[in-house]
Amino acid sequence: MRRYHVTTFGCQMNAHDSERIKGMLEELGLGEAPALEDADVMVINTCTIREKAESRLSAHLGLAKALKDADPGRLLAVGGCFAEVQRDRLFEQFPQIDFAFGPGSIAALGEWLTAERNDGASGSFGTGDERRFAAELPSRRERPFQGWVQISMGCNSVCSYCIVPTVRGKQMSRPAPEIVAEIERLAVDGVREITLLGQNVNSYGRDLPAAERLDFASLLRACDRTPGIERIRFTSPHPKDFRSDVIAAMAECGSVCEHAHLPAQSGSNRILKTMRRTYDRGRFLALVADMRRAIPDLAITTDLIVGFPGETDEDFEQTLSLVEEAGFDGAYTFVYSPRYDTEAASLPDQVPEEIKRERIERLIELVQRTARDRNERRIGGVEQVLVEGQSRTDSTLLRGRTRRNTTVNFAGTAGAGELVGVRVEATSSTTLRGTQVVL
Ligand code: SAH
Ligand code: SF4
Ligand code: F3S
Repeated sequence: MRRYHVTTFGCQMNAHDSERIKGMLEELGLGEAPALEDADVMVINTCTIREKAESRLSAHLGLAKALKDADPGRLLAVGGCFAEVQRDRLFEQFPQIDFAFGPGSIAALGEWLTAERNDGASGSFGTGDERRFAAELPSRRERPFQGWVQISMGCNSVCSYCIVPTVRGKQMSRPAPEIVAEIERLAVDGVREITLLGQNVNSYGRDLPAAERLDFASLLRACDRTPGIERIRFTSPHPKDFRSDVIAAMAECGSVCEHAHLPAQSGSNRILKTMRRTYDRGRFLALVADMRRAIPDLAITTDLIVGFPGETDEDFEQTLSLVEEAGFDGAYTFVYSPRYDTEAASLPDQVPEEIKRERIERLIELVQRTARDRNERRIGGVEQVLVEGQSRTDSTLLRGRTRRNTTVNFAGTAGAGELVGVRVEATSSTTLRGTQVVL
């Protein structure tokens, strides 16, 4: 049997796409190889969000080239966002690639493999007639009890630093009945936790024809009604679209988890404006307050960028104070990275690397302190935990996640996929530590 290996870079959207790539390859009769070295078909699902993603990718493409040089029978296919953005230059830059495909045309990989090089067409880029939802393909899920559900693709925002709209195109929502049917199938299959995925989940539905239109709040309520699904998560919402109906749905739906990943990007009004985020600091904080009022136990995590063009010390201080005022439970922190053909890449006053370094270090320190403070408040309480398996750091412990999406390492006897109670006894900035209790 021929074997494949898929390497994934980038966001959850790519992780979900990779599950579909695997499902499709298995349907074509290929088996999974444990490592790239063992694969006849090597697939790399790429990301282009920041420069760092690309340098990691180059190293990987180098390894794939060495493997191909040693055994020219192997095939190398490259998909995802970097492939899409570089499509005109890709084969010139990396002649080792046999086939490439963008995020909207995963099915083209299957078609190419089936027709495989009968026409000797190595070095081709697969495109469908139109973008298609990866969700239409079979899936090989990483964990039997968790599932990602794609609700939309693309993004209609114009954040001036971001390459995603160029790569993934305009927002296209999946019809609600298809989403609900998929969730029902997952539930029958043993899935207990789902994560709704989209570049901007809470602008879901606005592009659907009037007769089919459903907004995000109603979609959440429809998902909540599916028997067997005990936890619903979603990522990422945009603060500008987080309306009161979504907050109410979160508060009222028992299976919607008490967690929102709400990217702020900056705490400075001036920077938010040049970023074209369309909200200001005051509106962001008011939203956080509204959410916390409606959902008392809510965890809020965020994304923050330092070193955006023109960011002064004063602007940066505003980001630091936003972290404290909002009381984030966690944050992904990024150094601004100029991306091809984005508006911000050609702005004057790009911030020097060493200042970016200093700022990110200060920010990370503050984020960790804030997160640890928030986690400490959980000590002594009992959290509902979905068991994911053995702890990564200590094999005598189990690992799982709370509804607030915090990782917990704990002493207990439960199996993966079970929902248990865990009494929290200690904490770091990112993980809790505890003991299983009877709920
Ligand atoms: N669609 C999601 C996430 C987009 S990418 C959203 O809008 O929330 C994930 C994060 O990467 C963004 O939230 C942003 O913080 C960061 N990011 C995007 N472009 C970047 C760039 N050019 N430089 C640094 N960070 C960037
Ligand atoms: Fe990028 Fe902004 Fe769209 Fe998020 S909302 S994907 S940051 S353009
Ligand atoms: Fe990267 Fe594409 Fe996601 S650029 S972050 S894989 S949408």
